[in-house]
Amino acid sequence: MRPVRIYKATKQHLLPLPTCIITSPPPLFLKPHPTTIIFTRPQQQPQAKPTLYKNPKHQTATMSSTSTTTTKGNSIPSASKLSDLFSLKGRVVVITGASGPRGMGIEAARGCAEMGASVAITYASRAEGALKNVAELEKEYGVKAKAYKLNVADYGDCEKLVKDVLADFGQIDAFIANAGATANSGVLDGSKEEWDRVIATDLNGTAYCAKAVGPHFKERGRGSFVITSSMSGHIANYPQEQTSYNVAKAGCIHMARSLANEWRGFARVNSISPGYIDTGLSDFVDQETQDLWKSMIPLGRNGDAKELKGAYVYLVSDASSYTTGADIVIDGGYTCR
Ligand SMILES: NC(=O)c1ccc[n+]([C@@H]2O[C@H](COP(=O)([O-])OP(=O)(O)OC[C@H]3O[C@@H](n4cnc5c(N)ncnc54)[C@H](OP(=O)(O)O)[C@@H]3O)[C@@H](O)[C@H]2O)c1
Repeated sequence: MRPVRIYKATKQHLLPLPTCIITSPPPLFLKPHPTTIIFTRPQQQPQAKPTLYKNPKHQTATMSSTSTTTTKGNSIPSASKLSDLFSLKGRVVVITGASGPRGMGIEAARGCAEMGASVAITYASRAEGALKNVAELEKEYGVKAKAYKLNVADYGDCEKLVKDVLADFGQIDAFIANAGATANSGVLDGSKEEWDRVIATDLNGTAYCAKAVGPHFKERGRGSFVITSSMSGHIANYPQEQTSYNVAKAGCIHMARSLANEWRGFARVNSISPGYIDTGLSDFVDQETQDLWKSMIPLGRNGDAKELKGAYVYLVSDASSYTTGADIVIDGGYTCR
């Protein structure tokens, strides 16, 4: 039987306590009192000492006097100078969708190569463009560069890319999932096939790249995965209709956040959301619509892809060692209106 304690109490004690029996009249063994109450209480357990949540995904390392490093994948870099933190010497970076002459892919590759990285770039249909870019990267920056054919919508292709790059370069330190395709219709005007094509390229393709390279990052205990999303993942562009693209890019932003959590023990994952950038991707859009776009950009112009390469280098390098799950919007102010 649980012990029963007897208390004298006033009425305001009644509410918060667990069990109470008001006796009327009070039992004989108690002194008669108008507000005598008998409370029964469950026996109190001694409070457990609070314990810190130990994340099973983190590989614990010993703390040294000079460093507060806790894991290999998210450690504080030993370098302090910005030139060292941004350096990519000895690193290998894969950039998908770098076949254009003025696209985000080739600019990201130029930025990484300039900071010393070897680069593996991919193309889907423009083999010539990719080969030209490889030649330029090798000549201009003196780094190793190679082009690979890739259809991101095919998971087997993504796995093969990672396997081939590892065979050619020995490691992958960062992966920029940049390949993408635009939509030129909304849900009602466009066909089912059109919806599927955009989602397969922009959303599934990004996830396939992550799935293909993730195990390598995990095995090495380090890596940076960067997704080219879009401001269209934040807003619905006007007046053109491109729901599939907007949805896919919104998914990419949340994929970066979700993967940042999933891969917290060994790699960082972030996204970049460009606004209207003159890469040729939207050249098919009529001038009147493009002029309307420009009127909605606070900086009053489209961006140039080279204005984004600093952000790619930042996210790939140790300069961003405490940045994960972030989305960097680079849109001339479009989404801040
Ligand atoms: N330009 C903008 O205003 C803007 C704004 C926000 C976001 N973005 C995003 O930025 C990224 C790069 O685009 P960009 O503007 O720089 O144009 P881009 O130079 O034409 O880049 C698109 C790249 O994606 C590749 N690609 C297309 N479908 C593919 C597939 N199924 N598998 C593999 N690769 C494929 C293309 O390869 P091939 O040419 O060899 O076929 C090309 O290299 C895209 O994700 C795009 O959505 C662009």
